[in-house]
Amino acid sequence: MPTQQRKILVTSALPYANGAIHIGHLVEYLQTDIWVRFQKLRGHICTYVCATDAHGTPIMLKAREQGVTPEALTEKLSAEFVKDFSDFGIEFDNYHTTHSAENEALVGEIYATLRASGDIYTRTIEQAYDEQEGMFLPDRFVRGTCPRCGSEDQYGDACEICGATYAPSELLDAVSVLSGTTPVKRESEHYFFKLSKYEEHLRAWIKDAALEKNVVAKLEEWFAVGLQDWDISRDAPYFGFRIPGTEDKYFYVWLDAPVGYMASFKNLCDRDDNLDFDDYWKPGSDAELYHFIGKDIVYFHTLFWPAVLRSAGFRTPTSVHTHGFLTVGGKKMSKSRGTFITARTYLDNLNPSYLRYYYAAKLGPTIDDIDLNLDDLVARVNSDLVGKLINIASRCAGFISKHFDGQLADELPDHALFAAFADASESIAEHYERREYSKAMRQIMGLADKANRYIDDNKPWVMVKDEAKIAEVQGVCTQGLNMFRSLMIFLSPVIPVVAKDARAYLREENWRWRDASSPLLGTVLPKFRPLLTRVDADQVQSMVEQSRKSANPGMGDR
Ligand code: 2FM
Ligand code: ZN
Repeated sequence: MPTQQRKILVTSALPYANGAIHIGHLVEYLQTDIWVRFQKLRGHICTYVCATDAHGTPIMLKAREQGVTPEALTEKLSAEFVKDFSDFGIEFDNYHTTHSAENEALVGEIYATLRASGDIYTRTIEQAYDEQEGMFLPDRFVRGTCPRCGSEDQYGDACEICGATYAPSELLDAVSVLSGTTPVKRESEHYFFKLSKYEEHLRAWIKDAALEKNVVAKLEEWFAVGLQDWDISRDAPYFGFRIPGTEDKYFYVWLDAPVGYMASFKNLCDRDDNLDFDDYWKPGSDAELYHFIGKDIVYFHTLFWPAVLRSAGFRTPTSVHTHGFLTVGGKKMSKSRGTFITARTYLDNLNPSYLRYYYAAKLGPTIDDIDLNLDDLVARVNSDLVGKLINIASRCAGFISKHFDGQLADELPDHALFAAFADASESIAEHYERREYSKAMRQIMGLADKANRYIDDNKPWVMVKDEAKIAEVQGVCTQGLNMFRSLMIFLSPVIPVVAKDARAYLREENWRWRDASSPLLGTVLPKFRPLLTRVDADQVQSMVEQSRKSANPGMGDR
């Protein structure tokens, strides 16, 4: 058990308010939630904050399309996100929005300091402009023919066919996605942040943060081509915070989004006397700060964000934990194949504990993609969670309630075996700490095999028929239930709801990690009810079918 209580602030990337949470997003929220639950179980002060990422052009346009204000749209989606997260057992200490008073104040303060540090300058740039819509067009809102390979209907920043990157003005036959008209070039003054000034600081930070090696390799490539200063402004109309001192310039969403991490924490500090904002965010803070993100947003979190924090006089992140993408059946999630599964569709069909365990069994600390194979999910959950884990309790609990009035023995018959479980606890903890969840799950399931072997060898169902051995049955089943209990404590960050039910069955108030090392003896237990049922392959099929239908309404039965 660690002697030092750590103070840890953890974030997951803030979801955009322009679509539902899906199983791809869940990789990150579940990875983070497991880590946070583990830290809390170890006795650390760990705070997990998140928020809705509310700003930007796509959200503004989506709201317009639906005839609502962007505020109303983001509030509606936030409410859905909160419900989805909570139903998946993702437990934030605070969930806020970037469109908040705290965020506006912090962004304003940070911007003022960046300016005072001489890190902001303006430059006139030329951009695609839609005259009919009266707005500048983000690159993704211009489409046309690739100037390199001639493929039609490509985005304004990159060709999906040949991989070329370019400016929207280089596209041939460019059109605005909004109006279908040909964009014109128009000049506008933009605000830039001097990222290039922070190269040395960033190099030092990257070393300290011990980032994953593939992330470091990517950063090396970016350093090699030279850091470009960062355009932090956008012209009206834009849904965001207006830049102080301007009439029609707004902060680019990617400036205020990570500040949203701070703002969500600030919002929590304002109502929790035990948390102090400065204690976590001032330079020299002894608190740890971790951002969990996907590999697509590494640039923002490992270059812009630490540089902005440094320039603004705040501490930098302890590290950034990056994961890969999710594939389903080895392919990108697809609406037509029914593998673009929203959190809600999943929840309508399957128990969230299944996915929590499956992802844990697959996750490591690298940016490798993880694959959700639905047949494998069924097989693994049924064999590991139901067949091995829950089965330990099912095989022992009945004898305890039937022959001993529910009472556990006062002594374990095999101390050495229980000690083997306790001895594994530090190595399992180490795996969790390093986000080596797949290793932790393997080790835990190895112990579950051991527990089942012990029951197989002792055969309480045979012993119980022999009057002389009846007392031994109580010992064997107490041993079995204690091994089950230790495993449940180890697994509680992954399957908290199942663990909570197991704890209620064992009549314990709460669990800390170290409780796995001391046995539960003499307690009178209630009747045991199965804590988890097998995954039914038909339910998986119906989830896929439902996803396919909702993605292609009207085509479902073809
Ligand atoms: O990529 C995304 O989905 C962004 N909304 C993540 C923002 S993370 C943070 F910086 F706010
Ligand atoms: Zn091309």
